[in-house]
Amino acid sequence: MMSRLVSGEIIDNQDEELLRPQSIREYIGQHALKDNLNIFMQAAQGRQETLDHLLFYGPPGLGKTTLAHIIANEMEANIKITSGPSIERSGDLAAVLSMLEPGDVLFIDEIHRLPKMVEEVLYPAMEDFSLDLIVGKDASSRSIQIDLPPFTLIGATTRAGDLSAPLRDRFGIVSKLEYYSTEELCKIVTRTSRVLESDIDEDAVLEIARRSRGTPRIANRLFRRVRDFAQVLNDNHIDLGIAQLALTRLKVDSLGLDDVDIRYLNGIIERFNGGPVGIEAIAASISEEVMTLEDVYEPYLLQIGFINRTPRGRIVTPRAYAHLGLEFNEE
Ligand SMILES: Nc1ncnc2c1ncn2[C@@H]1O[C@H](COP(=O)(O)OP(=O)(O)OP(=O)(O)O)[C@@H](O)[C@H]1O
Ligand SMILES: [Mg+2]
Repeated sequence: MMSRLVSGEIIDNQDEELLRPQSIREYIGQHALKDNLNIFMQAAQGRQETLDHLLFYGPPGLGKTTLAHIIANEMEANIKITSGPSIERSGDLAAVLSMLEPGDVLFIDEIHRLPKMVEEVLYPAMEDFSLDLIVGKDASSRSIQIDLPPFTLIGATTRAGDLSAPLRDRFGIVSKLEYYSTEELCKIVTRTSRVLESDIDEDAVLEIARRSRGTPRIANRLFRRVRDFAQVLNDNHIDLGIAQLALTRLKVDSLGLDDVDIRYLNGIIERFNGGPVGIEAIAASISEEVMTLEDVYEPYLLQIGFINRTPRGRIVTPRAYAHLGLEFNEE
């Protein structure tokens, strides 16, 4: 159950749309990125051009999809949404591209999962707004070119490293989303409580923010669960006590680590003497998938300095030992 809390895959759809900020002013944090985007958007609007293609990358739940919608709103453009895994053949992508209208934003989520053959259809579309189609079969086949209207492609990925170089190079703007500070997460939780019309004490806001592993989606999810406990056990009042009780019951610890994080760290410590150890061996020993560990769990553990990545594998740091109440023996 706990892995669901942090995993990006299972989305609590209820309220999700309601909670998404609609404008860049409502979008909390990511200041450097927002400042640049404002310039690029203003410049493109001044020239009456479409915005250059953008790629957003970073761990799940940091606001990539939200930002794509906001950019479309700010540019007063329509957004068309698809995803890497849902486009299997070149023809599928050609169909999507041929339906674009001038100025549209095309959002491709999980763009690293586009098949290579399909990717190649994107290159001329991105570069020259042109669609190269092969018509006919065998000896009689020929290629025809169709002009596309100018559009903005926004790609999102949790694994920028998996993107092919030619695709990556065709984005004019490539931006990494950063983990949010506790202060920023406090603003997000406060905003969420306002949108969902529930009262919450300031110290309870801080408690949720601290345990949200730098991630707005997790902050919102924890808020909803805490609200459930408050409704049933505390007469709807979200105070520090009920927040702590709920988060403890959810097995989210003081730093937001859940039972997968703890099994991961303990696994390396107990079975591999603290590392270095390869990710495959860790994954096998705790029965988790390599991809999930790499995309969802490790980025945050790296961020808070609980593990290091070395050429010989992962190492658990003294700081993590201390958090787990274990003694660190250097050999
Ligand atoms: N900067 C922000 N300010 C306020 N709320 C935010 C912000 N970023 C994200 N959120 C909230 O977090 C939720 C998750 O964000 P979003 O779906 O955009 O993440 P994502 O990066 O696309 O994740 P994934 O990689 O799993 O697709 C949103 O529904 C929104 O409510
Ligand atoms: Mg998304």
